[in-house]
Amino acid sequence: MICSDPSSPAHPGPQPKTFIPQHLKASARSLIQVGIGHPFKLHNSRGKAMYTKGEGTWVQVHMWQGFLIGSAGVLILVASQIFWVKQFGSWATSLIPSSLWRRRVVVAALVAYVLLLSYNLLPSWIIFILNRISMMGGGGRSTGATDLTVRGALHQAHFWGWIRGAARSAEPTHLTLRAALLQAPFQWWIFCSLLGFLIAVLLGLGDRIALGARWLYRRVARAGRAVPLPSPVSLARRRFLERTAMAMSTAPFVAGAYGMFYERLNLEISHRRIKIPRLPRAFEGFRIVQLSDIHIGAFMPAEEIRRYVGIANGLKPDLAALTGDFVTWDPSTQSAVVDVLAGIKAPFGAYGCLGNHEMWAKVEDSITHLFALRGIRILRRERALITSGSEFINLLGVDYESNARMGPSNQRLVREYLLGVDRLMAPGTANILLSHNPNTFDRAAEYGIDLSLAGHTHGGQVTLEFISPELSPSRLITSYVRGWYEKPGGQLYVNRGIGTIGVPIRFDAPPEITVFELSRS
Ligand SMILES: [Fe+2]
Repeated sequence: MICSDPSSPAHPGPQPKTFIPQHLKASARSLIQVGIGHPFKLHNSRGKAMYTKGEGTWVQVHMWQGFLIGSAGVLILVASQIFWVKQFGSWATSLIPSSLWRRRVVVAALVAYVLLLSYNLLPSWIIFILNRISMMGGGGRSTGATDLTVRGALHQAHFWGWIRGAARSAEPTHLTLRAALLQAPFQWWIFCSLLGFLIAVLLGLGDRIALGARWLYRRVARAGRAVPLPSPVSLARRRFLERTAMAMSTAPFVAGAYGMFYERLNLEISHRRIKIPRLPRAFEGFRIVQLSDIHIGAFMPAEEIRRYVGIANGLKPDLAALTGDFVTWDPSTQSAVVDVLAGIKAPFGAYGCLGNHEMWAKVEDSITHLFALRGIRILRRERALITSGSEFINLLGVDYESNARMGPSNQRLVREYLLGVDRLMAPGTANILLSHNPNTFDRAAEYGIDLSLAGHTHGGQVTLEFISPELSPSRLITSYVRGWYEKPGGQLYVNRGIGTIGVPIRFDAPPEITVFELSRS
């Protein structure tokens, strides 16, 4: 566990953008998002969002682009697997001299690989195909109901139960043997082998370009006889380059294992003092602890969340702020996460807002009710006055909302963020907003909301921000990826969360609990 007091200068806010770069960036982002199954709003030739013309038009554009990019993704995946199978085959040849033992090892590895592939991928692919067929049957309209039915089938039907030994009836809230032995290694393998393959392709391309340039130079030099010929690449140097390239391609496997076994669990406690000039005197030194993006599941089991709740209580907060994504996909996990979070102790209470995963799992009303039964209030376009003596601060909360489509439906797609939230503000005191999506910050600052607390990005989850801030997948969806931001009218803190999504790996984005201390100066 790391404790830090980030006193670094403010992250820059979003820079002014010209039309052309913004347009190109948005188009690239749309294509990438469609490719990974989270389509964003698409742009026509004039740079206007297509969804303004109606959902039908939007979905038709999405379908052909999604098909092309999805097919390219499958091809890259297949190519990466062939690449690594061949690579391991050549390593087996050089490391195992006995042909009998080599054959045995190769066959055993292939059997294990095919079983893992069948267990983890086949049901999803079949359900994906069924989904496409049902969309075509429905006139090309993708509705939330269709997707949720399909996802429900994934979790509830005894689909492929015969190959798995048991059906995936629900997302577990504890680390099961099946998740540890069958899901985690496979997710690590697919993610890291894809990254390693892409690195190998880039290095191979660079090598070919360098060889081509060298060949061209030699031809020109030979024709003119005016410049000295470059010395040929020595065999030892070429071997060194090949070994370096292979080491770089295998680096994601090591980094992935580090991210899964160490960094994912290496909690960082961030302390930050927040200056709010109009903070009432009674709230000088008021402490708020923030937990975000819990994502209860096999890789964020209830026991682990209980540990984080204990750590949060040890920080002696006055108030606890929970900024959404309590569940991942499965509605049946909501009571388990509420049970654990009910252990948070703060004299001024625990408050929260909802994330996109509560929306996708369709648990917004039910989890709000469960939290209320345990004394935690979820603010859904509501405010709560936190009083101390005759003074108070105003705590506001909103559900997840986005001006760009993310996920299986157009739910919560808004043209303007926080529309009407200014009516919930209280003049003359500190206004603090809980909003899962950090993209609401620009509007919050326009309203003069002093502090926004957000999550959603997981700090990028797997990033190379230590090389460049642009090397983070979350940059595709927001300028506010992690940490503290300030602009005229307000401040924002984006918590990296404690759970994971997609792969149970964190790299350069450790889990985080933040404790804020409010101050007038
Ligand atoms: Fe999340």
